Amino acid sequence: MRARSLIFTLGSCCIASLASPTQVVLGTSQVELQSSPRQLHGRFLHITDIHPDPFYEPGASQSSACHRPDFKDERPAGYYGTPYSFCDSPFSLTNFTLDFLDEHWSSEIDFVIWTGDNARHDNDDDIPRTLDEIYDLNRAVAKRMEHVFLKKGIPVVPSLGNNDIWPHNRLSAGPNEIIEEFSSIWSAFIPPTSSASFHQGAYFSTEIIPDAVAAISLNTLYFYKKNHAVGGCDYTDPKDPGTIQLDWLEEQLEAYRSRQMQVWITGHVPPSEANYFSECYPRFVELNLRFQDTILGNLYGHLNVDHFSFLDADEINTSSKTSSRGTLFETLIADFSEIPAPLEDTRYDDYAVVNVNAAIVPNPYIPSFRIFTYNITGLSTLTKDIGSDPYLQMIKATQRRRALNHEQVRTFKKPKCEHKKFRNAWRCQPHKLWHSDSKSPSRHNSLWSPLGFAQFYMPRLEEFDQTHNPEFELEYMTFPLSSLHPDEETQDVTNHQYVIPLQLLPEELREPGVVESEYTPYELNDLTIPSWLDLATRLTKNKELRLRFKEFMYMGGVEE
Ligand SMILES: *[C@@H]1O[C@H](CO)[C@@H](O)[C@H](O)[C@H]1NC(C)=O
Ligand SMILES: *[C@@H]1O[C@H](CO)[C@@H](O)[C@H](O)[C@H]1NC(C)=O
Ligand SMILES: *[C@@H]1O[C@H](CO)[C@@H](O)[C@H](O)[C@H]1NC(C)=O
Repeated sequence: MRARSLIFTLGSCCIASLASPTQVVLGTSQVELQSSPRQLHGRFLHITDIHPDPFYEPGASQSSACHRPDFKDERPAGYYGTPYSFCDSPFSLTNFTLDFLDEHWSSEIDFVIWTGDNARHDNDDDIPRTLDEIYDLNRAVAKRMEHVFLKKGIPVVPSLGNNDIWPHNRLSAGPNEIIEEFSSIWSAFIPPTSSASFHQGAYFSTEIIPDAVAAISLNTLYFYKKNHAVGGCDYTDPKDPGTIQLDWLEEQLEAYRSRQMQVWITGHVPPSEANYFSECYPRFVELNLRFQDTILGNLYGHLNVDHFSFLDADEINTSSKTSSRGTLFETLIADFSEIPAPLEDTRYDDYAVVNVNAAIVPNPYIPSFRIFTYNITGLSTLTKDIGSDPYLQMIKATQRRRALNHEQVRTFKKPKCEHKKFRNAWRCQPHKLWHSDSKSPSRHNSLWSPLGFAQFYMPRLEEFDQTHNPEFELEYMTFPLSSLHPDEETQDVTNHQYVIPLQLLPEELREPGVVESEYTPYELNDLTIPSWLDLATRLTKNKELRLRFKEFMYMGGVEE
């Protein structure tokens, strides 16, 4: 059962413990860059858990965390990293990854979501980590992110990982020394309007597409069960840093919603009953559902396992049951099998989607990153100021009108709320109006809706060395095969939004006319909530598809 405990403790413990700028602006901040003219591509990068390790030595033994040789080791540390191991990333891998993204992707994406853990694990008693080392590693990666993306006008949205602090997992309320240091390391990424929230708790929001799309970067450590320096969003403690962060999140969502903006929520530790304090979690779920018409999705890292899950109205019910049902894969499939099918339209109000990305660090699987594609159809891509784009203005006006008509109060059965135990529980507090709308981008393919993603990975990591250059390859895509090329009949090349630039697809997919491909098992037309629920239901019914899903989770590694 190694992988099972690994999955839930990874990085927390002791496993051995459209933005092509018209000009390049140097040494400038995110805010200045956002006011410069840009052309959207309808794509963004999600990268996570890089874990560079300055002590990594090719040829070292895995039992030394790839730090020292031991001639008994049959599978010594590789040059570009050690796949399926407990070792962290050599700088050769992190450098290669950022150079690769620079060369192939930086001219194709609009922003970067970067969800934490930019230091090695504390997995070698002979070389314990120090805060200074953690800061240095974070600063090194942040500088590369600035150079590769920000300086080309591409906003970068970092978030704090549980290994970006020392001791790992433990972060007290801000302001504090660690948060001050990160506010300096990330100064280029955090807009001045978010400086106060950052000092208070290492969370911030930023308009990645001004007046249209924002990212809210959460400090999930204040919700994380393993952080013993905080109280866990207790209802009776308004000063708990998790509660203060959720109050802030609520205000942010209100403010963005009132401007008809859409929001990506990002962070390191994904929300689940297993990961979050029992009082933080239901309130977080409730906020996600209450602002379903404003939130495009949720993006996280930490577990290093490619998967998705749902935040579900049942989980804010007092009668909800908590049970861990085996491995992560088994738990997900068990959860998916509880989705009623067919689902009535109104029940879509009860779900939000969480996307967890695979890691760069080959621990315990292999390096991987994800490119999301989102809907920019109808925007005049040459617009100098997206905020005044006529199509966007029209969409916002429609949203303003609809916003008044689709609010509803959700009432829950609260059988246990009279009990003393529940009286001070978040889930027993009066409910506010829920803003869900079947025509919002999270529910219906429209402007800013996520359309799909392509997962890239490095399956032959062990083969690469000084003489064999590494390569990232396509692992799979959520898109239908037919969306890769313009419609054969209309041949409408000018209005076709290429979900993935043709030159970045495997050769066999670059020409139209392919009718079947291993790369497109899901055939999802978009990544709206109904599409994810449809996939989840299909996974429970179709064994072949379920095995593919499992293969993608563990990337050829074993789930134990
Ligand atoms: C990685 O890149 C940094 C910054 O460019 C450089 O100083 C370092 O030597 C590189 N390391 C390796 C192993 O390539
Ligand atoms: C809450 O739980 C009760 C009892 O299991 C169920 O009848 C009700 O539909 C649930 N409410 C929601 C919103 O899921
Ligand atoms: C984007 O949304 C619009 C409006 O619903 C739709 O007509 C268009 O086909 C979508 N674009 C893509 C690429 O799916």
